[in-house]
Formats: sequence, C-alpha cells, structure tokens
Amino acid sequence: MEYQILQHKVDGAVATITVSRPKAMNALNTRFFDEMDSLLDELSENEGLRVVVITGEGKAFAAGADIAEMSGMDSKQGEAFSRKGQAVFNKIENFPLPVIAAVNGYALGGGCEFAASCDIRIASAKAKFGQPEVNLGLIPGYSGSQRLPRLIGRADANYLLFTGDAIDAAEAHRMGLVQKVVDHDLLMEEALKTAKTIASKGPEAVKLLKKTINQGLETSFDKGEDLEAGHFGSLFGTQETTEGIDAFLNKRKPNW
Ligand code: CAA
Repeated sequence: MEYQILQHKVDGAVATITVSRPKAMNALNTRFFDEMDSLLDELSENEGLRVVVITGEGKAFAAGADIAEMSGMDSKQGEAFSRKGQAVFNKIENFPLPVIAAVNGYALGGGCEFAASCDIRIASAKAKFGQPEVNLGLIPGYSGSQRLPRLIGRADANYLLFTGDAIDAAEAHRMGLVQKVVDHDLLMEEALKTAKTIASKGPEAVKLLKKTINQGLETSFDKGEDLEAGHFGSLFGTQETTEGIDAFLNKRKPNW
C-alpha cells in the first residue's frame, strides 16, 4: 500500500511509525486506519523486528477521530466508523511485539485511545491527554470506555471520560496512564532507549510475555496462572532459554 499519512522506518530491531497529518492535528480518519492496518501486517512479517515505536508529527500525537469525517454520519455509519477504529487498535494491542507510544503532544479522544492500545506510553512534558467526546455529545468509539477503565482503573477513567478535561503529562503519569515523562526534546531518544532495552531481551520470551499478559487479563486469575505455567514451561529446552540461562551461569552476555 502507498502510505500518505504514515511514515515508517526500520532501524535494526526497532520500527518507528510516525503519524503525519500535522495540519489536521493527526486526526484519525478512515485512510489512517487503512494505512495502519496494512503497515502492521507489513511489519509483522519482518522477522528481525523486536519493538515498534509510534509517535506523531507536530503538536499532536492524535487529536482524536476526524470530526469533519464524522459530521453527517448516520447511526449505521457511526457504528462502522467505531468498529474500524476498535479493530485496528485491537490489532496494535495484540501485535506480536511490544508497541511503545511516544506521545509528543495532544492525545485526545481517539488519540488517547490510540495511545492506550500501545503497551507502554512515554510522554513529552508537553503532552496532553483527555477523552473530550462528551464535549461533542458523543462517547468514545475506539474502546476508550472499555480499555481506559481496565488500564488505569475505573475512578480515574471515569474522571477523564465524564469531565472531558485534558490533563497534562504529569497528571497522566500520576494516573498510571503514562509510564515516563521526559523533556520534549528527549522524547524520541528516551522512547528508542526503552525500545532498545526491550529489544536486547530474549525475543521469544518477550513475545510470549505479551501474549500471556493480554490473554491473562481476559480470563480469571487461576486460568491466567495456567496460561503462565504452560507458557513458562514451553520455553524450556528452546535455544533462546538455554542460551539465556547458560550465559548467566557463565557470566557472559546472551547471544540471541
Ligand atoms: N478532527 C478533525 N480535525 C481536527 C481535529 C479532529 N479531531 N482536531 C483538530 N483538527 C483540525 C482543526 O479543525 C484545525 O483545522 P483547520 O486549520 O482547517 O481549521 C486544525 O486541526 C488545527 O486545530 P486547531 O486550530 O483547533 O488547533 P489548536 O492548537 O487551537 O487546538 C486542539 C488543538 C486542542 C487539539 C483542538 O484542535 C481540539 O480540541 N481538537 C479536537 C479534540 C477532540 O474533540 N477530540 C475528540 C474527537 S471525537 C473522538 O475521538 C471519538 C472517538 O473516540 C472515536
């Protein structure tokens, strides 16, 4: 597919995707979702890749669903627009590799839902987060009403969802929505440093870990433990785990 909104580059084990529609604050339209869907498929075929970083160009990570595109939609079209966004953000959440959101600016509405679908969020001190859909007489449509309460807890999620207030990066950090806040100019450096740290770990273990966390959260604690024990066991005897344990015991770096 030819990409008009998304730019991407692969540097060794790390892919960086930049949402690049800065004049519209990277508002999320149908074209964006089609491109993201296709790019994720493309990246999932790259066997050398271990981590993906997503950021935005300009003042926004993404300022939400494209309000101009939504205007005039009927109920059926609205539902389809929601389903499309949900499916692509679920694809990010279930992408086989960890995905880091490097939140450079506004992450509002669908943009906050976008960041929430990533595994880790690192924010510029200039970033702003919020779910302002109620200001438009709307509710979130890209799983914000479901993912946010599960991610940061119902109380803080309720605050964001009902008030529509935009909060700064420090407050988002306090809520646990953001894992690290850094100076704006250091955002990509920090996100890439985190990506490289993850990329240096046992690659199959990291992939299995993401699957175990995601699947475990969808089930009971007991079933999650069954899942963990099965996955834990499945690593024994593999080349990667054998190498990791041998490297530790022989006081050397693993070579995977
Ligand atoms: N959709 C479409 N266009 C958008 C947009 C959006 N979500 N957000 C910003 N833009 C456009 C503006 O219309 C403007 O376009 P023009 O230059 O053609 O007028 C351009 O981006 C720049 O925006 P502003 O002039 O408003 O820039 P600002 O710096 O003054 O304000 C902002 C920035 C605070 C992010 C403000 O643009 C804003 O509040 N945007 C809307 C945020 C919002 O309500 N998001 C929720 C959308 S609904 C949703 O996401 C539903 C869902 O869950 C599926």
